[in-house]
Amino acid sequence: MQDRFVRSITQLPEALAGAIMPLLNQGFSGHLDAVQVKELCRVSGLDNHGLGLALLPLAASLAKPPVSDFYVGAIAIGKSGDFYMGANLELEGEALFHSVHAEQSAISHAWLSGEVEIKDIVVNASPCGHCRQFINELVHGQKVHIHLPGQATAPLSHYLPYAFGPADLNVTSPLLSKQQTELELESDDPLLIEALDHASLSYAPYSRCHAAVVLETDDGATFCGRYAENAAFNPSMLPMQMALSNLVRHNREFSSISRAILLESSAGKISLVGATMDALHTVAAVQLEHLVVDPVR
Ligand code: THU
Ligand code: ZN
Repeated sequence: MQDRFVRSITQLPEALAGAIMPLLNQGFSGHLDAVQVKELCRVSGLDNHGLGLALLPLAASLAKPPVSDFYVGAIAIGKSGDFYMGANLELEGEALFHSVHAEQSAISHAWLSGEVEIKDIVVNASPCGHCRQFINELVHGQKVHIHLPGQATAPLSHYLPYAFGPADLNVTSPLLSKQQTELELESDDPLLIEALDHASLSYAPYSRCHAAVVLETDDGATFCGRYAENAAFNPSMLPMQMALSNLVRHNREFSSISRAILLESSAGKISLVGATMDALHTVAAVQLEHLVVDPVR
């Protein structure tokens, strides 16, 4: 079992702890597929949402909050029935806006895994205004159910009434809906190809700055982040923040980053290069490789 779970496993009901322990091996990064979820429900006697609530201490152990020391864990439950854990991330010594919230981390985990709809978000602290706005960007966002310990379950529409959202800016294909923007690049560098693939799946209806970040670590593993914009702009999740959250979820250290790529579309009204360099330079001493590519016409 990974060290980071040792303390939180003691907070789980005994039957659940026993059943999940074998899954918490070195490769575990917070994903449980629908079959595993079903089995854990059976063993623990909990229903789906009860299981989500019971697993929150494990999700919170994925957090890295050097500023607040406040561990937030979240689980996004996909339409597929899979559980995607996420946790908050703060960059040491850096401006607070670089932070990733647990809900954003869990949602981006689901998105990167190909999930097309999120039905529920289970979280151990009340979702802040920024997260409510972020959830509102999702497909059927107002219907996403929020589960909190000791609180009645309620849809986002309860937490965020009179919402401002994509429809106010005439965007009809919200976050997680199937969409692809073809981008052109001739390269046989696998990292650049990965960045291109993810940038084409990024969500940038407001700026058209389709973009992705790929980070490579010393062990040859790669961690990607796609740009996820928000109708209210500020709650947008930058691809570098998503990639860093992904890397931490996979139990890698920032010091193991050996390459960092930002690929963005030339059609964007903005560029993420400045913001991306800012975040990268606080965590690793590597030069950002910046590529600007054209959309396929
Ligand atoms: N936090 C979340 O992760 N989700 C919320 O909605 C509430 C706040 C995190 C952000 C920051 O890392 C810490 O909790 C303190 O605000
Ligand atoms: Zn939040």
